[in-house]
Amino acid sequence: MGVYVLGIAGASGAPYARRVLEQMLVGGHEVKLVISDAGRKVIDVEEGLVLTGNTETDTPSILEWSQSTSSVGSLQMYHHKDVAAPIASGSFPIDGMAVVPCSGGTLGRIAHGVSNGLLERAADVCLKERRRLVLVPREMPLSLIHLRNMTAVTEAGAIVLPASPGFYHGPTQIDDLIDMVAGRILSILGINSSLMKPWTGPEESSHSGRELL
Ligand SMILES: Cc1cc2nc3c(=O)[nH]c(=O)nc-3n(C[C@H](O)[C@H](O)[C@H](O)COP(=O)(O)O)c2cc1C
Repeated sequence: MGVYVLGIAGASGAPYARRVLEQMLVGGHEVKLVISDAGRKVIDVEEGLVLTGNTETDTPSILEWSQSTSSVGSLQMYHHKDVAAPIASGSFPIDGMAVVPCSGGTLGRIAHGVSNGLLERAADVCLKERRRLVLVPREMPLSLIHLRNMTAVTEAGAIVLPASPGFYHGPTQIDDLIDMVAGRILSILGINSSLMKPWTGPEESSHSGRELL
């Protein structure tokens, strides 16, 4: 089983993070979780989950939130100012990292190597160690600064996966849209999940008679 870092920054899209975390843990993986202050704020606004920043007391809340209490994987939370955490060093082996969602601010700091917190530092480590790093920005519209920062992180080896679910798989509820984005993040990290079925052509779609492409 793998060891993955999951960063949650302060962009809209906390449900994506919830689903990715749940699937990592259900899949038996070790998850190292870092949440920025703004990430905690967004989780409160979008999911009604209040986290204090005390990782010991927040861990059971996070497990309950992600519905992972019966998981076989393990969760370790770190405070975003804990720059002495193992994941701040390239000598600590991990299999990959995702920032879900990734705010414009965190994207900019990663793009410019401004590692003033653990989340950015762990991402910086992934880039320098040539490990897989998936960034999931959520913003609209995009400024030239956002676009340039996305180019910079891509040139440095990261994968930018915008939180923009497609509609060709016939979603009928919000969870279907969440799963499509979460499923792509997991698959790029090399984690198996049943969240997203691969596209096999319009004839396999549930929308018989409807033009999809
Ligand atoms: C409810 C809420 C939603 C937000 N949505 C976004 C967003 O979708 N994208 C974004 O880049 N910033 C968004 N922000 C602003 C960021 O949280 C803010 O820029 C923050 O400083 C980012 O900090 P961080 O990068 O340390 O997480 C949102 C803030 C709040 C409170």
